[in-house]
Amino acid sequence: MQFKNTLAFAQSLDAQDELREYRNRFHYPKVNGKEVIYFTGNSLGLQPKNVSGFVDEVMKDWAELAVEGHFYAKKPWWDYHERLAAPLAKVVGAKTKEVTVMNTLTVNLHLMMVSFYRPTEKRYKIICEEKAFPSDQYMFQSQLRFHGLDPNDAIVEVKKREGEHYWRTEDVVKTIDEVGDELALVLMGGVNYYNGQVFDMQAITAAGKRNGAMVGWDLAHAVGNIALHLHDWNVDFAAWCSYKYMNSGPGNASGVYINEKYLDRKDIQRFEGWWGTKKDTRFLMKPEFEPMENADAWQLSNAPILSVAPYLASLQLFEEVGMKKLIKKQKLLTSYLEFVLTEVDKQVASSFEIITPKERGCQLSVFLHGEGRAIFDYLMKNGVITDWREPNVIRLAPAPFYCSFEDMFWFGEVLKEGILAK
Ligand SMILES: Cc1ncc(COP(=O)(O)O)c(C=O)c1O
Repeated sequence: MQFKNTLAFAQSLDAQDELREYRNRFHYPKVNGKEVIYFTGNSLGLQPKNVSGFVDEVMKDWAELAVEGHFYAKKPWWDYHERLAAPLAKVVGAKTKEVTVMNTLTVNLHLMMVSFYRPTEKRYKIICEEKAFPSDQYMFQSQLRFHGLDPNDAIVEVKKREGEHYWRTEDVVKTIDEVGDELALVLMGGVNYYNGQVFDMQAITAAGKRNGAMVGWDLAHAVGNIALHLHDWNVDFAAWCSYKYMNSGPGNASGVYINEKYLDRKDIQRFEGWWGTKKDTRFLMKPEFEPMENADAWQLSNAPILSVAPYLASLQLFEEVGMKKLIKKQKLLTSYLEFVLTEVDKQVASSFEIITPKERGCQLSVFLHGEGRAIFDYLMKNGVITDWREPNVIRLAPAPFYCSFEDMFWFGEVLKEGILAK
């Protein structure tokens, strides 16, 4: 399609957008009395309007039923979390029994490492991308120290090539093959938080498995953003947060995928709690642990219903629309944003460059030359919500649920003004 950087063209794309009505299903912050252009769905998604109904229902049941709500609430609390597994399984390309919702992301990655990082004298190394999300780095280091291993020896980081802003799949696969039979685990971010790169999860998983390692993915920036086929890719495990593209609210519950081949394995190591025991005998309060036959076996505590309720509300929207349509719009919207950026760049004599490779989801990371921070501040003051990453990067993630083509056009105009004003 031949794009144009005009309001009329942007509006014509909106007119053809089959998801355009979904904009009205979200709450927007306002700046200077106007709804913002929201680019930080990769950090905290907007609040879907149906969330308050789901939360109010729990509050009402709690007020009127108190403890009886566990079994007699409209959606009983004791198995409330189970309602999320089927819709989430569609989002991540898994079987329903392979998915559960519990805790928060870093907690779940630790729990997954308990089960799937079982170092031996020979096979103990972990491969990740260089500059992985800091929480993941702290997790690796602390897990390794917990096992009495030296993080400097055991962590192998795949580096970008000199002068390049992205990782090459061939370099990841080569590193996996080189570490070979010393490799215990590959655990990387499926979409990198900084440059927005989508890793070739299928190829990397295959390389890890070929070398006898476990392969897991941190899908914080991937879930609800790109197509995932975790089961078909033979991924061992994955975890994600729900507050970014999944729009479930700040700090909210995390999802977990565990390949079905591990679900009935008696030898699997796992930290256990009462919500992982079989439902029909859970309240007999027996001393022995009888695991659920699905990923719920990894559950520890009774679910935080007030936090799971907004996630269920948001999943209702994903059920209605489906990932296919979201991804179709995402591709067009992000391409249009890229076009607008390129047009603005021509007009302001090359003030920035896009560092996100072609393998991408929603996010474009833009390296601002010169007075980047002043441009960022200008955008924020003028109703464009984006985020700043050192040393000079703004990340723009136009989420297809609530961002429009017209937003992209107006963003370009504000950016141009901001650069010319400096
Ligand atoms: C890639 C990635 N991993 C891990 C985390 C940590 O998530 P949490 O604070 O929910 O544990 C984040 C948070 O933004 C993230 O982006």
